[in-house]
Amino acid sequence: MAAVDFSPLARKDVASHFHPYTNLRAIEKEPPLVIVAGDGVEVIDEHGKRYIEGMAGLWCAALGFSERRLAEAARRQMETLPYYHSFSGKAHDTVAELAARLTALAPTEALRRGRIVFANSGSEANDTAVKLVRYYWNARGRPHKKKIIARGRAYHGVTLASASLSGIPMMHWHFDLPLDFVRRVTCPHPYHHALDGESDAAFTDRLAAELEALIEKEGADTIGAFIAEPVQGAGGVIVPPAEYFAKIQPILRRHEILFIADEVITGFGRTGARFGSQTFGIEPDLMTTAKMLTSAYAPLSALFVSEAIYETCADASVEAGVFGHGYTYSGHPLACAVALEALAIYDERDLVGHVCRVAPVLQDALRRYAEHPLVGHSRGVGLIGAVELAEDKVARKPFDPKRGVGAFLVRRAQAHGLILRVMAGDIIAFSPPLVITEAELRELLARFERALEETWAWVRNG
Ligand SMILES: Cc1ncc(COP(=O)(O)O)c(C=O)c1O
Repeated sequence: MAAVDFSPLARKDVASHFHPYTNLRAIEKEPPLVIVAGDGVEVIDEHGKRYIEGMAGLWCAALGFSERRLAEAARRQMETLPYYHSFSGKAHDTVAELAARLTALAPTEALRRGRIVFANSGSEANDTAVKLVRYYWNARGRPHKKKIIARGRAYHGVTLASASLSGIPMMHWHFDLPLDFVRRVTCPHPYHHALDGESDAAFTDRLAAELEALIEKEGADTIGAFIAEPVQGAGGVIVPPAEYFAKIQPILRRHEILFIADEVITGFGRTGARFGSQTFGIEPDLMTTAKMLTSAYAPLSALFVSEAIYETCADASVEAGVFGHGYTYSGHPLACAVALEALAIYDERDLVGHVCRVAPVLQDALRRYAEHPLVGHSRGVGLIGAVELAEDKVARKPFDPKRGVGAFLVRRAQAHGLILRVMAGDIIAFSPPLVITEAELRELLARFERALEETWAWVRNG
């Protein structure tokens, strides 16, 4: 780890920042946790205190916070070619190499034969997917096929299109969203949406019927695509019942509705396979990835485009003269060099195999936590999971959000040197760096358990 000056930041430095996803008035009074360095799966605050990063930042720092090889790859690229673009007949070797590497890794033949569109964030990748759906159906002479079906509690990002696809009300409030191209279906979360006594099979049949009914009501000719995260992250770590995607994909195919898989958090190993699409048997037409693509050391996203969609767009671009889309930083050399190195490390260290080996430690613990009196439900797959706190487990009744029970737990965890995240509904998420060792994972869980017991005592004392 490089030498760090731990002197606390002057208050005014912190006060200049318009914080994302924060109660802006609250943070004026209670300053943020200021992180100044990283070391393996830990981050270190301005006072020198260490925390296990139980969320890998925002589900993204797969290799932890001090992988020298990524720093070296970035430095080499900066010294060789710090910037170039891919507009109008140009390219650079790093982006070309990464595109080839990614298509080779793609989970289906249609994507392996397809192309990659680069952007800088998950939001932009999903935004671009929406634009490609429009471009594709226009080029196919079916200009009415533009609506996109998304699910409740989805998280797809914050651009106008991506936030519209997201199904979390506070992302829409005061932003005049969602835009009117979105249609919504129920998410596959049996804990909240299954009827009393309903089996997973009956529940997923009902969701498939809901989808079919929506398509019939709107008219299949008006619906261009369906978008889904294999495991819904920010909406509460929702792991679908095993048969869910197998039931909805034939319906989409029958109605010629494209499937956009949002693999922004599941891509590159989180679920115990390289892609969540492999874990859940999804065959996407478009697939968005970001985050762990560079282990989050540089901003980069990659949208995988099937051969059929690419071919249609390519023909249409001839007619238009040019394909009118691209970012100044699409396939930025620095980010591409970091991604290539990250992908090489993932292979050399068999990171997917490692996730499969350590995941049972997390998943067994989550199953145990489901028995705790404060926990209504727990769930997970691979190295992602969540516990959902409940005031009444049997009635599946959540706590009054004003009590801030989940926030209390997360503060206690932080006091014990563990960073976790609470999501709406007092859901506590786990998504550690993929390189976490079994011993580190057991330490993470021990700290969580202390926080859980303290929260339970606090709740009982009113
Ligand atoms: C599933 C999913 N899609 C898209 C995004 C948006 O990515 P970004 O924050 O890089 O724009 C996120 C961010 O957490 C995400 O979890």
